[in-house]
Amino acid sequence: MKRVQDKVALVTGGGSGLGEASAMMLAAEGARVVLADIDEAAAKRVLRRIKAAGGQGAALQMDVSQEADWIRVMASIQRRYKGLHITLNSAGINRGYSDPRETEFKDWKAVMSVNLDGVFLGTKHSMRLMAQSTPVNGSIINISSIMGLIGHPGIGAYNASKGGVRLYTKSVALSCAEKGLKIRVNSIHPGFIDTPLLRESMGRMRDPELAQKTYDALQPVGHLGQPQDIAYGVLYLASDESRFMTGAELVIDGGYTAR
Ligand SMILES: NC(=O)c1ccc[n+]([C@@H]2O[C@H](COP(=O)([O-])OP(=O)(O)OC[C@H]3O[C@@H](n4cnc5c(N)ncnc54)[C@H](O)[C@@H]3O)[C@@H](O)[C@H]2O)c1
Repeated sequence: MKRVQDKVALVTGGGSGLGEASAMMLAAEGARVVLADIDEAAAKRVLRRIKAAGGQGAALQMDVSQEADWIRVMASIQRRYKGLHITLNSAGINRGYSDPRETEFKDWKAVMSVNLDGVFLGTKHSMRLMAQSTPVNGSIINISSIMGLIGHPGIGAYNASKGGVRLYTKSVALSCAEKGLKIRVNSIHPGFIDTPLLRESMGRMRDPELAQKTYDALQPVGHLGQPQDIAYGVLYLASDESRFMTGAELVIDGGYTAR
C-alpha cells in the first residue's frame, strides 16, 4: 500500500521548487495531484513529469491571492475528483532586501497577499471542500519558513507573512479539533533550500561561487537543503501516519534554528 494511495492532493506553487518536489513525491505515493500555479506552463511541465513517472493529476492556472480563483479551482476539483484530502499551500514570493524606512508599501502588500492571504484563502476553501468529502479526512500543510520563527534584517514583510502563517495554522487546527472536524492543519518551516527562489537571492551576490560557499557555510550541516528534504516532511504530514499531529510546526533546516 502506498502512503497516500487514492487521496486527492492540491499543491499551490506546484510548478517549481518545494511544490514541484512535493507533488512528484505525493504522486509517486499514490495521490492524484492537482498542480495550481500562476505560471501555467510550469504547472503543465510538472504534470508531464508526474505522468511520465506513471502518476495521475491535473494542472490549473491560479493566483492564490484571488478568492475567485480559489472558488474556480475548488469547483474544478469537485467536478473531477468529488473531494479533496490534502492541500499543500506552497506558493510564495520574496521581494528582496530593503531597509524598513525604504520598503515600498506595494512590495509589503505583494508579499502579504501571496504568502499570507494566499494561505488564508487556500485553507478556507480547502476546508470547505474537505468537509464535503466522504469520508472527511483532510490534511492542510502550510509552508511557512524558519523566517516565520526568527527575525532577519531587511525582510520584514517576508518575516511577518511567514510568522502569520505559523499562528494562523495553529488557530485553524484548534477550530477544526473543537468542531470535531477531521481536518489536520500543520506548518512546515524549511531552512535554506536550493530552489529558484533561493537562487534568486543568491544571484544578487556578484560571484556565484562565493554565494554558494557563503550560503553553505551558514548551515550547521555545511550545505543547503534539497527540495526533496521538505517533500519527505510534506508526505508524512499528508499521510495518515501523522494522524495525531495538528497545529504543529515541522522545522526542516539542517540545524539552523538550533543555535
Ligand atoms: N527555498 C527556500 O529556501 C525556502 C525556505 C523557506 C520557505 N520557503 C517557502 O517555500 C515556498 C515555495 O518556495 P520555493 O523555494 O519552492 O520557490 P519557487 O520560486 O521555486 O516556487 C514558487 C512557485 O510559486 C508560484 N507562485 C508565485 N506566486 C504565485 C501566486 N500568486 N499564485 C500561484 N502561484 C504562485 C511560482 O510560479 C512558483 O512556481 C514559498 O512559500 C517559500 O516562501 C522556501
